[in-house]
Order: sequence, then structure tokens, then C-alpha cells
Amino acid sequence: MTESPPARIFADPAEACRTLAAELVELVTAINASDRPAVLGLATGRTPLPFYAELIRLHRAGELSFAQVITFNLDEYLGLPAGHPESYHSFMRRELFDHVDIPVENVHIPDGMVAPENLAAHCAAYEDAIRAAGGIDFQLLGIGRTGHIGFNEPGSPRDSRTREIELDPITRQDAAPSFGGLDQVPTHAISMGCGTILEARKIALLAWGSGKAAIVKEALTGPISDRVSASFLQEHGDATFYLDAEAGSAL
Ligand code: F6R
Repeated sequence: MTESPPARIFADPAEACRTLAAELVELVTAINASDRPAVLGLATGRTPLPFYAELIRLHRAGELSFAQVITFNLDEYLGLPAGHPESYHSFMRRELFDHVDIPVENVHIPDGMVAPENLAAHCAAYEDAIRAAGGIDFQLLGIGRTGHIGFNEPGSPRDSRTREIELDPITRQDAAPSFGGLDQVPTHAISMGCGTILEARKIALLAWGSGKAAIVKEALTGPISDRVSASFLQEHGDATFYLDAEAGSAL
């Protein structure tokens, strides 16, 4: 028996992000109080922007410290140097890390410039680092129009691990405006696998806007299948969807 993950529908993204950020403060505080670092899995893209803005606000207000936080990002484009403005390394610095007190050595993001012959070892080392940190306490997710979490495009197995992935044409199309054209969008990425993500103890998936309504419904209520990797969240005991009214409108 599986039970669909709860979907919490908020008036707007700001309200959803305030709620989730307050919950994350509690979680980080409780974990740090037990004298260990909190391990967070982080996402990029448009969706988490208001969430990161809220985390920065809470940090500036003295309510959240990242001094004892370790982070692992979901993914990175292959072929983009860390300094490229569209790399997820740049994104994370710009949108969060440059504004909070996280020690640089606590940040982990796959290396988009890893040489092909070192790629498998790099991915295995990423998995090892997550395990060595004690596993992910809290994983933040967005959802792509293909139903991907991380860059686990349709066909990604339930037990997949960090690896190279070919991006779906829809995913590349969605990224084209920020890259200034489809031909500029990388064709491949490194992504945590579905299995890696599902091992996180707590998961929050965020989605905003009517463009996500159909895939959100499919993920929450459709068959559990590798056609929609977010559907695997139905089998996770502690995954919650945080939606604005539009993204939740098909439920
Ligand atoms: C990003 C990631 C992706 C995005 C998804 C939604 O690290 O892994 O799964 O969360 O593509 O992207 P946005 O938020 O731009 O709609």
C-alpha cells in the first residue's frame, strides 16, 4: 500500500517559502542541537529562488546559521566551468552561498568539467561523500515538465545513482531562454539518481504556476513509473509537495 505524498497548497510562492523555511530552521536547529551538522540536498532553477531569498532573510535576522550545515546539490551541467554564469556553481553562489555563513568546504556540487574518463569515479565519490556526511536530512526538489527530479529524465530507474544523464529535449527547451538559445544549452548533466534522492530522510518538492499543474497531478496521483521520476516520491514516507494555487489547480 502506498499513500500519496501530502500536497500543501498556498496562496503564493512567498507564503509557501516562508512556511517551509520556518520548518527548515526548526530542523537545522534540532539537528545542530544534537551536535552534528545538518545535511541539506539543494536544487537550482527558477523555483527555489524565493525560498533561498527567505533563507537569506532569516540568516540576516539571526534566525538561521549555516555554520554547521553541509550541502549537496542535485546536479550540474556537463561541459560548463564553475565560473560560467549558467553553471549551478555560479547559481548557488549568487542565490545563496555568497549571502550566508556556510563554510566553503561544506558545499558539494558535481563538477561539470570532469574528464570523461574520470566521470564514473567522480559520481561514485559524490555518493561516498553523501554517505560519509551521514546521508541527507532534508532534500529540496523542483519538478521539470518531464516529471524529472534532479535531472532524472523519463526512463531513470528507481534505484539509479549519481551519473551522467542526457537531457530531455523539453528540459533543454525550458532552459533555452536563460542560455540565450537552444544551441547554447548543454546536452548532458551529472545528476544524483532517483535512488540517491529517495534516501533523503525528508523531502520537499516545490512547484509554482499553471505550467506545472499537469505534471504535479501526474506525479502525485498517476502510476508510479520511471516515465515520471517524481512519481517515486509516492513511495517515500516523508515527502511533501509545497504548491502555489496554480500548480495545485489540477488536483
Ligand atoms: C535543478 C533540478 C531540476 C529543476 C526542474 C525545475 O537542480 O534538479 O529538477 O528543479 O527542472 O526547474 P525550474 O525550477 O526552473 O522550473
